[in-house]
Amino acid sequence: MMLNQVEDLASKASDELGKITDVNDLEAWRIHYLGRKGSLIQILRSLADLPLKERRAVGARANELKEVLEAAFVEKKRNLRQDLALSQRREALDITLPGQQVPLGRLHPTTQMLEEICGIFSNMGFQVVEGPEVEWDYYSFEALNIPADHPARDMFATLWVDSEAKTGGRPMLLRPHTSPVQIRVMEKSRPPIRIIAPGRVYRYEATDATHEWMFYQVEGLAVDRNITLADLKGTLFEFARCLFGEDRKCRFRCDYFPFVEPGVEMAIDCLVCRGAGCRLCGNSGWIEILGAGMVHPEVLRRVDIDPEVYSGFAFGMGVERIPILRYGIDDIRLFYSNDLRFLKQF
Ligand code: PHE
Repeated sequence: MMLNQVEDLASKASDELGKITDVNDLEAWRIHYLGRKGSLIQILRSLADLPLKERRAVGARANELKEVLEAAFVEKKRNLRQDLALSQRREALDITLPGQQVPLGRLHPTTQMLEEICGIFSNMGFQVVEGPEVEWDYYSFEALNIPADHPARDMFATLWVDSEAKTGGRPMLLRPHTSPVQIRVMEKSRPPIRIIAPGRVYRYEATDATHEWMFYQVEGLAVDRNITLADLKGTLFEFARCLFGEDRKCRFRCDYFPFVEPGVEMAIDCLVCRGAGCRLCGNSGWIEILGAGMVHPEVLRRVDIDPEVYSGFAFGMGVERIPILRYGIDDIRLFYSNDLRFLKQF
């Protein structure tokens, strides 16, 4: 009878031991089976009540079991310790692993271009200023000699911002060009003025390879006594040579912008064919890069600068157009679609 109990205990103890996975459970197991009040001790204590023959058999078996369980306990404890050390080592920092690469950042091609353009004009004494992108109709059109019903408004497909009610009856828009900055500067300062104004402009336009609804322009303005068209030509010619190379040719032709008189368009000889005619220049040999002109007397009068005393020139250019020409980029939408494969090339 008692022998059966000992055998039961033996198999239960080894079953349970097999399932143990941490040291606390192992200690509980030891107390339960091998402790001073444990199952095995109790069996050994009750031996005295047994008949001699059974006492011997049970006693021998129980002592043997005690040794087996003690040995199993020591073994298990060692195994658990090893497992723990192993998993700790696995979680620890492995300094032999290669580090994670941090990709090198770079400036957006437009930013690079803006810095280059502004750098050239800074060297010529122009000051860099900025104006708001959300602009009043007044600065974008009215003050630039484009009244509400003027057909020239069609030149600037406009994104209107808000109902006139919300802006106190004064229409607001996303500026379609940087020319409003001219007015803001002339309102606040007196000649001599020499500024350039880089920034975003917006047009209400369906996008395609050559049209974006947002792009960048750089505006330029110089106002002083005795400023002539020759100053305009000299300044822009110097600019073109700095940007496109010493041997650049420039061509000025008449153009129309309501805020200048006369108005001109400047072209450089084609970067690819040097004037012979190719695909890039549409076989003309020339590439138009900016609009310019002498500030209209009406514009000066509005900002209280006397056109009898002062004169000025102004110009405006698209920024993306330059890298497009330089690198043969065939779609302006690439600039602002955040495709790193494109952006990483510059
Ligand atoms: N603002 C004109 C445009 O966006 C460019 C320009 C600026 C022309 C200054 C003449 C003088 O097309």
